[in-house]
Amino acid sequence: MKPMCYIHNFILNPLFNPSHIPEGIVPPPYYATGDPGSAPSTPEIKDETSIQAMRRSCKLARQILDKCGQLVRPGLTTDEIDKFVMEESFKAGCYPSPLNYRNFPKAVCTSVNNCVCHGVPDSRPLEDGDIINIDITVFKDGFHGDCSETYLVGIVDQSGVELLDISRQCLYTGIQQCGPGKPFSGIGKAVENLLYGTRFRVVPAFTGHGIGRYFHGPPDIYHCRNRYPGVMKPGMVFTVEPAISEGSDKIYILEDEWTAITTDGSRSAQFEHTILITETGVEILTVGPEQEKET
Ligand code: MF3
Ligand code: CO
Ligand code: CO
Repeated sequence: MKPMCYIHNFILNPLFNPSHIPEGIVPPPYYATGDPGSAPSTPEIKDETSIQAMRRSCKLARQILDKCGQLVRPGLTTDEIDKFVMEESFKAGCYPSPLNYRNFPKAVCTSVNNCVCHGVPDSRPLEDGDIINIDITVFKDGFHGDCSETYLVGIVDQSGVELLDISRQCLYTGIQQCGPGKPFSGIGKAVENLLYGTRFRVVPAFTGHGIGRYFHGPPDIYHCRNRYPGVMKPGMVFTVEPAISEGSDKIYILEDEWTAITTDGSRSAQFEHTILITETGVEILTVGPEQEKET
């Protein structure tokens, strides 16, 4: 696979003017400054009203993500995906959470081939044989919902298809370890057990995260073997989002301070859900009609 490295523009998306948010959109606290402020210091237990709001933002994130997936084809640029996400989000009455989050310049993360995550949309057209992760987070009624999928662009080699398959399995294996009283550390253990003896590796640099009125907060969800303390409790909402590499599990961050690429140029894939711990198990908040088949 061709390694990609290119210069990003460092300016905030010219499509977006923080002083002209469309009518009816309530943006998150960082939209103008880039500073997300603080999250709770320990994993939060959400009440029923907050859970209902989480269900709405997660459902919207999934709907926009599925629409993006249908656009994916050779020739499409990631800037076009970004423009689409901005328009669809505002149309749906929500704010695209990445936009100006810690100065991220665009409305969506698009991570192609050797890019593990946090890829910044640009003018490169997708090529036949690429893989692309699209990571959508939206902010609606005060709460964020976060999900991502990796897509095949045109015809992808067998190895790339296997990378996507196993990455999706890692996500669902991780989610199967979730429920009331279950240790957070069980997720990473199960993911690593699934990959044992394969050529695929978890990229430990990126974790899942608690989510709510804040984009990222406790708990940290490790997808590698770990000793993170604590157990899951009903009302907790967090993401599971293992990033899996075909080769090295080490990463570099490019000078844009966002784009994470594998050190050896190998491809990486990732799938993400936001989930709720219930009294009896787990509810996947970002599941849509397409993913019902996968669970
Ligand atoms: N959506 C990513 C995640 O899963 C976070 C992206 S942060 C951004 O946690 F600023 F790059 F958008
Ligand atoms: Co995400
Ligand atoms: Co996330």
